[in-house]
Amino acid sequence: MSDSREIVQEYLDIVATVREYVEEQMQLGFTEHHEPKKQTGDFDLKRLREEAADCTRCELHQNRNTVVFGTGDENAELMFVGEAPGADEDRQGEPFVGRAGQLLTKIIEAVGYARGQVYIANVIKCRPPGNRNPKPVEVETCEPFLLKQIELIHPKVICALGSFAAQTLLRTDQKISSLRGKFHDYRGVKVMPTYHPAFLLRNPNAKRDVWEDMKLVIAELKKDRALRESSP
Ligand code: URA
Repeated sequence: MSDSREIVQEYLDIVATVREYVEEQMQLGFTEHHEPKKQTGDFDLKRLREEAADCTRCELHQNRNTVVFGTGDENAELMFVGEAPGADEDRQGEPFVGRAGQLLTKIIEAVGYARGQVYIANVIKCRPPGNRNPKPVEVETCEPFLLKQIELIHPKVICALGSFAAQTLLRTDQKISSLRGKFHDYRGVKVMPTYHPAFLLRNPNAKRDVWEDMKLVIAELKKDRALRESSP
């Protein structure tokens, strides 16, 4: 290929890559481009939170008190994703603050983090009335917020709490019992599905499995840190 043909081909490849990216963003429901947060400070996550705060895209906005966007360190290496806010979360505007949330805080602390050092969010940002399961249309409508959060926070590991979060992120209908215990990939981020803390409250024996999953998470984060520290 001549030099000028190579340049044209290179140009066409760049255009195709940009188009693919823009189409993907539009499919996720975003019409504006957000630069990755790590290059621009925390402005974008703040903007996303503001966008979510007055969201009326699905019927869940009719009964909510607050949009439960997410909490924690916006540069966290470890992120937890749950299902949807319950009554306590809806009242306080923060995910995982009820009984299941207190157990999640204990799990986080047991693996050596403070709650504020990780990031916690849900697939669905508004409480489904009576804590019913979110409808597929609600997941589809709300999911772009979570996906954008993940993109901006860019954690090293996501811990998907329960089958709903795991199945949504991994686009699968496999059971949590077969998904847990190993890493899966979500756009280059390692995902460890594990049991939801609310399930653990009803089934304390499953805490042993969660502990095994969390040990894998910690080992992975350690490995990642060692790699980063050893590279120039
Ligand atoms: N359960 C969840 O999945 N998320 C919360 O925020 C609280 C309970």
